[in-house]
Amino acid sequence: MNHAGILGTGSALPEKVITNFDLEKMVDTSDQWITERTGIKERRQAAPTETTSLLCIQAARKALEMAGLQSSDLDGIICSTISPDMPLPSTAAFIQRGLGARSVLAFDLAAACSGFLFAMTVAEQFIRTAKARYVLVVGAELLSRWLDYQDRATCVLFGDGVAAAVLGPVTPPAGILATEMHTDGAFAEHLYIPAGGTSKPASCETVRAREHYIKMRGNELFKVAVRNLEEVSRRVLVEAQLKPNDLDLFIPHQANQRITEAVRERLGLAPQKVFSNIHRVGNTSSASIPLCLDECVRSGRVKKGDLILMSAFGAGVTWGSALLRW
Ligand SMILES: CC(C)(COP(=O)(O)OP(=O)(O)OC[C@H]1O[C@@H](n2cnc3c(N)ncnc32)[C@H](O)[C@@H]1OP(=O)(O)O)[C@@H](O)C(=O)NCCC(=O)NCCS
Repeated sequence: MNHAGILGTGSALPEKVITNFDLEKMVDTSDQWITERTGIKERRQAAPTETTSLLCIQAARKALEMAGLQSSDLDGIICSTISPDMPLPSTAAFIQRGLGARSVLAFDLAAACSGFLFAMTVAEQFIRTAKARYVLVVGAELLSRWLDYQDRATCVLFGDGVAAAVLGPVTPPAGILATEMHTDGAFAEHLYIPAGGTSKPASCETVRAREHYIKMRGNELFKVAVRNLEEVSRRVLVEAQLKPNDLDLFIPHQANQRITEAVRERLGLAPQKVFSNIHRVGNTSSASIPLCLDECVRSGRVKKGDLILMSAFGAGVTWGSALLRW
């Protein structure tokens, strides 16, 4: 069995910044409310000409460069997204074409904010069993396209962004040490887009009723998120026979700074071991964890041998953790 790890990371953010003060002009909200309740100060918004796949290709090129690889070296491409270029075909197909990669196994994966970790776990299996050597995993969201800028409960939270990682075989002790992923549909309607799928195809009525936008019951999700993030984080550490104190870095999904704080406290981690960039980018769904990772790698925050725990929670609901040694 091969051991899989991350060989390179890269990210791409749209240029346009939407601050809390900009949102004050659009909905009945305030910089104070958003900052106190979420920790977010600003987020990015893609230009009309920018697509999910275009940003994916930019991020992927940077990740390949860091890994010292060419797109032709890739044996697989997994794009985690709930905001694809279009319903058909997959965004992964556009990434493969744009990168000039070979006709490899390339597909989209939908697990919302947990999607990057789900995709990483899938890629790991191909590498472990030597079915693939190098797999590109991208977490990509242009959620601004699904946001209702009349709904203050959701439009202040989410932002656009893309980040990629190239996975491949590594020499122990580096690599992915343990992963655990979950989905529980019991809370499916706590965070969803009611129309545009087979249960409610697009019609003039669905557009008039604003049913193509994200709807969320944030308060209920908050409690489930904190509980599930703590439990799954602890379990992957136990699986690897390690303790929270052994961690050099904890990267939680950036949904709300208060969720991050609650999980940090429950795990008994020192504040300096927990990374956060939510104030700058908001909740970028499946791009959230890889954006943090890329920032940490490029800034030197992550060093060879560091033990990193990444834990995510999102619509579905989905949640999971991955523990890796850099
Ligand atoms: C969404 C979230 C920030 C809301 O914070 P909260 O403290 O739970 O706030 P509530 O939803 O209870 O709303 C409290 C009040 O603020 C109001 N409010 C909501 N959004 C607001 C905004 N942007 N500006 C001002 N007031 C707002 C509500 O209308 C409510 O007013 P009321 O008391 O008069 O009814 C928070 O619940 C959250 O982050 N939830 C988890 C989200 C999540 O994990 N999503 C899935 C992962 S991707």
